[in-house]
This record gives sequence, structure tokens and C-alpha cells, in this order.
Amino acid sequence: MTEPNTESAAPTAAAAPKTIRIFDTTLRDGEQSPGASMNLAEKLEVAQALADLGVDIMEAGFPIASPGDFEAVREIATTIRGPVICGLARCNDKDINRAWEALRDAETPRIHVFLATSAIHRKFKLNMTEDEIVNRAVEGVKLAKSLCDDIEFSPEDAARTEHDFLCRVVEEAIRAGATTVNIPDTVGYATPVQMGKTIATLVNRVPNIDQAVISVHCHNDLGLAVANSLFAIENGAGQVECTINGIGERAGNCSLEEITMALHTRSDIYPFRTNINTRRLVPCSRLVSSVTGLLVQRNKAIVGRNAFAHEAGIHQDGMLKERTTYEIMRPEDVGFSKTDLVLGKHSGRAALADRAKALGHHLTDEQLQKVFERFKVLADKKKEIYDGDITALVEQQFQEQQEQRWELEDFHVTSGKSVQPHVRLQLRRDNEVYSAEVDEGDGPIDAAFWAVEQITGVKLVCKDYQVRSATLGRDAQGEAILEVEYQGRSYRGRGVSTDTVEATLKAILSAVNRIAALERA
Ligand code: KIV
Ligand code: ZN
Repeated sequence: MTEPNTESAAPTAAAAPKTIRIFDTTLRDGEQSPGASMNLAEKLEVAQALADLGVDIMEAGFPIASPGDFEAVREIATTIRGPVICGLARCNDKDINRAWEALRDAETPRIHVFLATSAIHRKFKLNMTEDEIVNRAVEGVKLAKSLCDDIEFSPEDAARTEHDFLCRVVEEAIRAGATTVNIPDTVGYATPVQMGKTIATLVNRVPNIDQAVISVHCHNDLGLAVANSLFAIENGAGQVECTINGIGERAGNCSLEEITMALHTRSDIYPFRTNINTRRLVPCSRLVSSVTGLLVQRNKAIVGRNAFAHEAGIHQDGMLKERTTYEIMRPEDVGFSKTDLVLGKHSGRAALADRAKALGHHLTDEQLQKVFERFKVLADKKKEIYDGDITALVEQQFQEQQEQRWELEDFHVTSGKSVQPHVRLQLRRDNEVYSAEVDEGDGPIDAAFWAVEQITGVKLVCKDYQVRSATLGRDAQGEAILEVEYQGRSYRGRGVSTDTVEATLKAILSAVNRIAALERA
């Protein structure tokens, strides 16, 4: 058995770089981040942005999980062209058939079947023996293969599975028809050398391994997801599973932008390439942040606002003399625009359409018209409209495109240091206007929550509330982002306005509307 490769793979002059397939799971594992659920219009927008980014495979969802998930996978499968569209299924007939129903109209569909294999999962979660696991995996893969040519199999918690058993399951899954075998570090427990060793073991010990692509799926509980994925690639993985901004269960998944730029920037030592258009990374990151409400930390590698900001004088001096003294990547290569192009009151529909397109938004004529109407209203309030404003307007449009049960009709708020907050609120539903007046709460925001609750009857527990400016300047639009809990589940709400109380009311209503939509589904 060859030793795992723990050193950087040295390129040979003549060898063409191997293409690493980028499997994006923002819409499935990423959406499992608490409160990050997206509506159908948002999912379609993200899916199109992922296709524009050049991902090879996108995991569009888990069709059995809910009617909404099913519908989203089906819609993505029927409308998005380019990448392989994948749907997740547990290893049972019902899940697999449902996944196929959602995927069957895709240009290139893939069913992704998973079953846990580690001793701890076998004993406590599944109560199954090793033989039973192998048989179930084989049956599941065979059923999926009878429906679809492209099958991925994941032994869940592979990183904690005994190597002998992992090799056996992987070999049997490939024999049953799996074309990709994905090795998840489900709980983010592995270390880089260990992950490399697991992949090297599969390469060396599974006799039919050449008939499948080895994939890796690393969670980030120890902050090692990107490093673990890199070691996996160095040791033979040909596919890496990742998400935009690294979102996902708990601490998230391997970040797409980081793994891609690591391979790209260090092509001097890595003989690997990807199909990613790196200039789409920042627009895609902003879109996902905006629709999920999961803010990107300022110092986040590659896409954070400070990723290319040089503060120290000595660095600035070096940069002026020669950029590469302190910069290993060019901001424009990951999609930061050199100039934040400004539109204004006199800009027309075509200019707005152009800018929205450059920012990665695909709008139908009808959607563009609606965004343009909002743009005109906003341009009357603030002189300069920046990229962040345009993204906020587009996102508001996508959010509201879903059936809106409650809409903000009007409001009036009084607050002050020595007065009791007072909110008068009017909401519209099905062309009827409902009113409430509230004199309680410890401030205008609390009072706004009470007023919405009085009208809608939906009692929300606020878990997180943030207001930030969407762009520069004192007249910037405020973006309110909420995470609320309702009947044990997390929901997100987002609202944008030049008035932060209005933005907050819109955010509360968007959470209430998401709850209503889910209850109807
Ligand atoms: O983390 C995990 O194990 C997963 C599998 C479903 C691939 O997400
Ligand atoms: Zn996962």
C-alpha cells in the first residue's frame, strides 16, 4: 500500500492538470443551516447563479424532505441547463423513487443515495449489522441505477468508519452501479492527514475504484473542511463537495470559494484545475448571503469585505510599489469590481438591466419592470444607487414574488427617551386592511413585533436581529435581518428600506409569510 500523500503534489512539466469536479450543495446541505431556508424563487435564482459560476454538479435538494423541497428540485431540474442536477435520497425505495420523480426531466440527472456506515451510527442510529448495511446499500444503489445512469453513493460518517468496512461498502456500491463514491466527514472530526489516508486507502485497496470518481464532503466543525478537502484531492479525490460561503449544518461545509481559489492560486504546486469562473465568486457569495440572511464575516477569505483591504502603512507602501508584495490574488479575479458603478434618478431601464445582469441577476421583463419601479422610488429618496442597492431591490422582488399573505399597508411609530413607544399599523391581506394600535414594548421594534402579532396572531420569538446598511452613506438603505422561532422551528425574515423601522416591519412580515407558506405546503 502506498503512503498517503501529505506533501504538495509536484506537477510534472508535461502532465495536463486534472479537472476537479465541483459539486455544490448550497441548496441542500447549505439550506440546512438554521433559519437559512429559501423560497422557490430564491432557490431558482441561486441555482442559475451556480450554473453561471460553472459548478459541475449542483445538489438541488432532498425531494422527500417536504413538498417544497420536491417542487424546488423539480423546477431546477426542468429549467437549469449546464450542470448535473442532483437530488438526495436515503437508502430506501420511497426516497429514491421520489428523488427520481423530481429529477427525471433534468438534462443530466444524478441520484445521491446515502447510508451511515460508522460503528456509532450502526449501533445507535440504525441498529443494523455490517452485513445488513452492505445489503441495504447495494439494494438502494441498484434501484437508483435502474432509474438513472449517474449514481452517487455516500457512506455517511465515512471519516469515522473502520477502513476495512469502508472499503467493503465502497466496493459493493460501485459493483451495484455507483459512479461516484462520496466520503463524508459528517461531523467534521477528521484531520487533513487522516482524510488523505482514508482516500489513499480506498485508492489502494478497493479493486474496482477506477470505475468511480472519489468525492469528499467535509464539514467544518474544527475549521478544517478546506484543508481536509485539499488533502483528499491530493490523495486521489476527483470531486469536492462544498457550499458558497461555506454555509451548512452547524459550522458549515467546505467553502467553495476557498477550495477553488486554493487550487487556482497555488497551481504552482497543485496539478489540478476546476471549471469555476472565479470572477463570479463575489456576486454569488453576495447573492447567497442576501437570500439566506447569513452574513459573511468581514475577514472571510476570498469574499469577505476586508479580504483585500490593506490597513497597515507598510503594506500600503509595498502595494503601491509592487502589488504582489502583499497580494496573492487580484480582487478582480474573484469578482470584486474595481468601481462600484453608480446609477441615479436619470438612469434608465436599460442601464439598470445591464447592472443587474453584471451582478448575476437574471430577470424576466416583468421582474425587471417591477425592480425598475422600485428603483425609481428609491432614486427619488437617495441620489446615488450602488450595486448593494440593486441587489437589495432584486432580492426584495424575489422574496415578494412568492405568495404574500400579509403586506405592509401603512405604519406610524412614536418613540423617545421619555415616552412610551406607540405603533399604529395597517396590514393588507387578500385586499382587506387590518389595523392595530400598540402602546407596549420596551422600544419601537418590540412594539412593532407586538402590533404584527396582534393582527396576524403569529407569536414569534426573536432569536437574532440585525440592521446594517446595504451600501455607503448616511442615506443608505437599511437591511433588517431577523431570525425568529415559531413552534420550535427557525425562520428568517429580511426587509429593506431607507427607514429602518419600515425595514424591520418588512422583515417581520417576511418571516410571518414564510411561516404561512410552510403551513400551507
Ligand atoms: O454530511 C453528510 O454526511 C451528508 C451526506 C448526506 C452526504 O451531508
Ligand atoms: Zn453534509
